[in-house]
Amino acid sequence: LRNNYLTAIAGAGDEAALEEIRVAALGKKGEISLKMRELGQMDPATRQAAGAALNRLKDEIDAALRAKKSALADAALDARLKGEWLDVTLPGRPRRQGTIHPVSQVTEEVTAIFADMGFAVAEGPQIEDDWHNFDALNIPPEHPARQEHDTFFMARAEGDDRPPHVLRTHTSPVQIRAMAAQGAPIRVIAPGRVYRMDMDQTHTPMFHQVEGLAIDRDISMANLKWVLEEFCRSFFEVDSVELRFRASHFPFTEPSAEVDIRCSWEGGQLKIGEGDKWMEILGSGMVHPKVLSAAGVDPNEWQGFAFGMGIDRLAMLKYGIPDLRAFFESDLRWLRHYGFAA
Ligand code: PHE
Repeated sequence: LRNNYLTAIAGAGDEAALEEIRVAALGKKGEISLKMRELGQMDPATRQAAGAALNRLKDEIDAALRAKKSALADAALDARLKGEWLDVTLPGRPRRQGTIHPVSQVTEEVTAIFADMGFAVAEGPQIEDDWHNFDALNIPPEHPARQEHDTFFMARAEGDDRPPHVLRTHTSPVQIRAMAAQGAPIRVIAPGRVYRMDMDQTHTPMFHQVEGLAIDRDISMANLKWVLEEFCRSFFEVDSVELRFRASHFPFTEPSAEVDIRCSWEGGQLKIGEGDKWMEILGSGMVHPKVLSAAGVDPNEWQGFAFGMGIDRLAMLKYGIPDLRAFFESDLRWLRHYGFAA
């Protein structure tokens, strides 16, 4: 009897099987319980011996059941732990991170450099009216510069013969807006998008400029030269730069100068600051008195300089990127190649 039960208990596969064995042995109608009940009909001497033996057997089976039960629970826990095992030493799955677009990055750099020189940031609309984009900048309707700008015009409703709004062709209208809003003295830059109907390796119909404007009582071309040199040294991270001021013409500055930077171009490598090449980087000049007047600033009291440069051009030069169109194609392979995306 004893061996039967102990063998059955050892072989039980789960708790339900154990419970069956317990009921069969120790339950109300269990084999051992029935034997206990038979003790009453025995004579005292036999009863004592049989009773003690039965009690021992009952305790032994009870203990074996408990032990097996906890062994089964342990095994179940082990199995679960094995199934849910987590290797915390495995390397993580990499996730690509977004990064700043080169044009945004250069805009931030440019803004920071001019901020150090006391220039605040001014803004204007990308859809500009004809007056701010042209007239106020001393470009009257018949002026040839209007054609040179390859302007995108916004459609007017039929019968509306006011001059159409334009997509601003340069950031210079922000000169007018900033002076009209703040008066003089003023020192601002205006980075932003501009539009011209033009498309090749170095031109896109939308591109970015940064305008600079400094108006005070005695600002001269010398100040312009210093500011631009400081900017270039800082932006291109070189100890010295050489700038060439070439006489030029813009309707909104007098005198006007286009500025080139000394560089070399060897084996597809551009170097700023040395070499025998000149790369045009911006247009500039002393703000025309008519422009000051148009913006409500008295030209008899105030004077100053303005400049405008291409941000995308600056990015191409700094990062050695040959094709401007790639800037706006959102091709991740291109961005990664130049280190602008992870
Ligand atoms: N607005 C001119 C351009 O788009 C650049 C410029 C700005 C020139 C300010 C002189 C002064 O080419």
